[in-house]
Amino acid sequence: KGPLLVLGIEASCDETAAAVVRRDGTGRGEILSNVVRSQLDEHRPYGGVVPEIAARAHVECLDVIVRGALDEAGVTLKDLSGIAATAGPGLNGGLVAGLVSGKALALASGTPFLAINHLEAHALTAGLTDGLSPPYLMLLVSGGHTQTLLVEGVGRYRRLGTTVDDAIGEAFDKTAKLLGLGYPGGPEVERAARGGDPKRFPLPRPMIGRAEPHFSLAGLKTAVRQRAEAAAPLADQDVADLCAAFEAAVTDIVIDRVGRAMDMAEDTFGPDRPRWLAVAGGVAANTAIAAGLGGLAQARGYQLAVPPAALCTDNGAMIAWAGAERLALGLVDGLDFAARPRWPL
Ligand code: KG4
Ligand code: ZN
Repeated sequence: KGPLLVLGIEASCDETAAAVVRRDGTGRGEILSNVVRSQLDEHRPYGGVVPEIAARAHVECLDVIVRGALDEAGVTLKDLSGIAATAGPGLNGGLVAGLVSGKALALASGTPFLAINHLEAHALTAGLTDGLSPPYLMLLVSGGHTQTLLVEGVGRYRRLGTTVDDAIGEAFDKTAKLLGLGYPGGPEVERAARGGDPKRFPLPRPMIGRAEPHFSLAGLKTAVRQRAEAAAPLADQDVADLCAAFEAAVTDIVIDRVGRAMDMAEDTFGPDRPRWLAVAGGVAANTAIAAGLGGLAQARGYQLAVPPAALCTDNGAMIAWAGAERLALGLVDGLDFAARPRWPL
């Protein structure tokens, strides 16, 4: 099989992104361009993503972003083997905007179209960045998703654990808000936690020790609120101590839950168990959590694959890559493929 050149379009949340990726005949990937426009500034005043604002912003800049990705890669539509767009899960308005763009380009140029599951794209990114081949374990921790997956092949994913309430990034964002910190909350909480004592405010660690590797964050967030109310009015040191306690609790939860997912993978595969743990999502940028995962991986005999931040968070390259992987298997979608705001793997 020859090389494939795929354009990827992503507009499922608050980044408008497009990229061109090349997949050679041996299955190795190369990013030729990766253009992202974040809508963070538009949403910041509201302390979260506003769907209507997101949809309008995607519509306004999609063509420019796609143009930029093609130009930066030095290719035209005629050179492409496939055009991939995120079809779900995500916010409907943005999904429709991205899908329509991709379909229109595919129709006009007669290029095969690929409707991509955003979660699948995150799960396959380690193949592009680190050359991982399945089976491997995957931890996805973003503002919208918290799950552990067993990646057994392209199109073959087993979800081991997921959150029963908030995503971890969402818990960081809500905790930041209730402590009067800015949006997005993850980096703010991490910064504040640096000067804090993680032991001053004891916090619960929901789900730790449970056999099923699921996550729960809502109780932890509520506990932070109760501690904050009891200590009000909060001085900077109180905020720092609460952030440090929260970050330590989340880190403990992640290590325990991923460790449990490792147990399950080992039960399934025996001696042929996965040797890699791949991480994706904005929360992977957290130093304490990343260090905790590094320690766990080492203790359990796994290698850790943490793609660069630009490929851990939402981007077009992961969509293009998932498209290339599917195209290599002969999988193509019809132009009638509708957006799927809910689309579990
Ligand atoms: O993957 P991502 O950029 O976007 C999606 O959710 O799709 O993840 C964003 C999330 C936000 O909730 C943000 O607060 C969190 O990742 N985050 C962090 C850190 N940086 C970003 N959480 C903890 N520590 C960080 N340093
Ligand atoms: Zn994402």
